[in-house]
Amino acid sequence: MQDNEKNPVVKFKVITIFPEFFKPMLEFGIFSRAYKKGLIGFETIDLRDFATDNYRSIDDEPYGGGSGMVFKPVPLGKAIKKAKSEKKTKVVYLTPSGKLFNSDLAKELAKEKDLVFICGRYEGIDQRIVDLYVDYEVSIGDYVISGGEPAAMIVIDAIARQVEGVVKEMDSVVKDSFYDGLLDYPHYTRPETYNGLRVPAVLLSGDHKRIELWREKMKLVETLTKRPDLLERARLTETQKKLLKEIKEQLRKLT
Ligand code: ADE
Repeated sequence: MQDNEKNPVVKFKVITIFPEFFKPMLEFGIFSRAYKKGLIGFETIDLRDFATDNYRSIDDEPYGGGSGMVFKPVPLGKAIKKAKSEKKTKVVYLTPSGKLFNSDLAKELAKEKDLVFICGRYEGIDQRIVDLYVDYEVSIGDYVISGGEPAAMIVIDAIARQVEGVVKEMDSVVKDSFYDGLLDYPHYTRPETYNGLRVPAVLLSGDHKRIELWREKMKLVETLTKRPDLLERARLTETQKKLLKEIKEQLRKLT
């Protein structure tokens, strides 16, 4: 899959043994639109093209024995060198041993111009590749999936959303869950009553100030009840701190 010819804000290059995995990203949705507009660059690099034998083999048994196979350093090293077109290129390796991916890391990586992703398989890649070339080891969660490809898609999509112009209204990115370290408020659309459940009256009031305040409060309620761990790290404004105190007092009265 070749990059488009335009001058993108961020270029993503993915080293994988399954380039076909990524085709849908360029065909559907927000990422595909941004790619077609030239805002983001995207290219896959087939690791097997860098194999050194007639079998196009890219993995081998682990030294020291044990189950599984390991990506060999020679083909992977060559693929990385090819992908690193610029000095400033940063290399990201998707691995369950990496730093847990979150909104802050997405924002940090969105400042880069050129990002190369390594999708591992099997038992992983030769450690010397990590030592020599990898700038970020990133995990999408505390579980193991069968390969780095779905993880790369998630990470790339989240980074692309931070690039100005990718999401039509940046306002909706700013209001996304996690942007300010909090979960999003609940959303409702027509009809007003569904299976006996009514839309909260404030949302029908037309009073934008009250609606904003309700949404601010609901973000705190959602975070407090579903992910209290996030509140410990969130940088709350003075208004949010006051609201949170009120919510906690109200909850205390209820129990
Ligand atoms: N490869 C396998 N599991 C992974 C995970 N949790 N995050 C990133 N890459 C992975």
